[in-house]
Amino acid sequence: MKTITKLTALREEMHQHNQSGCSIGFVPTMGYLHEGHLSLIKEARNNNEIVVMSIFVNPLQFGPNEDFNRYPRNIARDRKLAENADVDILFMPDADEMYKGILSVEMNVKERVNILCGKKREGHFDGVVTVLTKLFHLVQPRRAYFGLKDAQQIAIVEGLVEDYFFPVEIVRVPTVREEDGLARSSRNVYLSSEERNEAPAIYESLIEAKKKIESGEVSTSAIISGMKDFIHNETSGRVEYVEIYSFPELTPIHEWDGEIILAIAVQFQKARLIDNIIISLDKKENQHV
Ligand code: PAF
Repeated sequence: MKTITKLTALREEMHQHNQSGCSIGFVPTMGYLHEGHLSLIKEARNNNEIVVMSIFVNPLQFGPNEDFNRYPRNIARDRKLAENADVDILFMPDADEMYKGILSVEMNVKERVNILCGKKREGHFDGVVTVLTKLFHLVQPRRAYFGLKDAQQIAIVEGLVEDYFFPVEIVRVPTVREEDGLARSSRNVYLSSEERNEAPAIYESLIEAKKKIESGEVSTSAIISGMKDFIHNETSGRVEYVEIYSFPELTPIHEWDGEIILAIAVQFQKARLIDNIIISLDKKENQHV
């Protein structure tokens, strides 16, 4: 595995691979790797000749009161995991390398943004699309891999790629879970042991809701309040949102039809956890919500 920290070195390296017609699979991350990231690398490894992973904790996607400074980092461990997972090129720039001075053109996400995580995290997705635009231009991947746990991020990135004709295929990779159902996340380390025991209730609430929808519940508000009550009863966390939309458009639904996302965010003392499930539904008579 080659580790590259400078833009010029990455450009040269990628130029050579692109010239030789290799397919490049790209896994952008902020590090502190877990099974979820490893599943993205595995997908990339299975379907491309060259696998590039970036580790960059992007300051632009953190709000002033968010956890940029205490975002978990462990570069030595990440490098080992990346090497064992057969990454070819690990790109680890510093912030000066990625953001030299003030941006003269800023990116601003307009659609699918003032809901779910975007509602509370003003400017977060502007930061995400900015860094990904830079990274896509540098790496020039044929495919880029994203976890479905951050479903809103995937929907927004798909919009970016479509709007600006990026020649990259966005590959959605299913959420990786602990044995008890908790979605893997770098932020799970912030949970106290008590909270860690409670946290699987997040996924359970989604599964229960899915069962209710599949067995004929037609009211979104009944589903949402059922999930909120469940989290309230089973955990010490505070529900930040439970929302239901069409996927990937992220528009309100008027009938149970097509791909639908149920998404939830729960705030524990030091960890804010998100999860979702996407369900495919056939239009049924009288299923207006
Ligand atoms: O999902 C993440 O880890 C980040 O938002 C990403 C895509 C690497 C951009 O910084």
